[in-house]
Amino acid sequence: NCAAGEPLKVMISGPPASGKGTQCRMIVSDYGLVHISTGDILRAEVSSGTEIGKNAKEYIDNGKLVPDEIVTNMVMTRLSLPDVKERGWLLDGYPRSYSQVQSLEGANIKPDVYIVLDVPDEILINRCVGRRMDPVSGKIYHLTNFPPETDEISARLITRRDDTQEKAESRLDTYKSSAEAILATYSDVLKKIDGNRPKRAIFEEIDSILHQFQVTAERSLVDT
Ligand code: AP5
Repeated sequence: NCAAGEPLKVMISGPPASGKGTQCRMIVSDYGLVHISTGDILRAEVSSGTEIGKNAKEYIDNGKLVPDEIVTNMVMTRLSLPDVKERGWLLDGYPRSYSQVQSLEGANIKPDVYIVLDVPDEILINRCVGRRMDPVSGKIYHLTNFPPETDEISARLITRRDDTQEKAESRLDTYKSSAEAILATYSDVLKKIDGNRPKRAIFEEIDSILHQFQVTAERSLVDT
């Protein structure tokens, strides 16, 4: 459990399009944690044309993992900023290889809870192919599951370059090749959640888990 008075430290993982980004938006809005999504940070680096972005682009576009040292440096830098110490963190998309796990262990960084969203393969591919992103609000849509509310939003939606059927399949293979070893590392704080339900129902389960951690932390603060 998280230490008394310490902000929550949460990792969220799951295969591509399992709903991590969707759930993170809801978690952040209720818990105020700092959302650190390696996918979002990398895509922002690519669109701003930075050195990191130039190095990462080809890997991302082809559904391959960006080299560990690039991503690890990025995450360690982000985790060292003061807002993280104050508000806690929600790490989304990292660690994704055993070497990334080792980097976290070397820095003594451990989550209070490790959430995994479980969704069947055939559903994941459909979610990837139908996903659209709103560059203005950052909101995540789906052509059939969550269509945009207005024509104005619809006209500005963008499709991720790695959201083709072929690349989604390759991302899924990459996920499967390392998932087991990573999950085993966090087995003591692992919470597996059925991600093949309406997004509100999934959030309610995550909320009840995180709420328990917060209550425990507050209670031990009163006890000390
Ligand atoms: P990243 O952005 O992390 O991609 P990912 O893991 O493949 O996950 P996604 O962003 O595709 O999906 P999600 O689970 O967030 O689902 P979402 O909520 O959008 O990484 C991209 C790339 O960056 C990697 O391939 C790699 O190249 C690089 N990278 C990132 N981290 C790295 C690392 N640590 N090391 C090396 N390289 C790294 O939902 C998906 C769709 O489903 C949406 O359309 C949504 O509307 C819909 N949906 C969501 N919830 C539901 C629901 N309950 N029911 C029905 N539909 C739903």
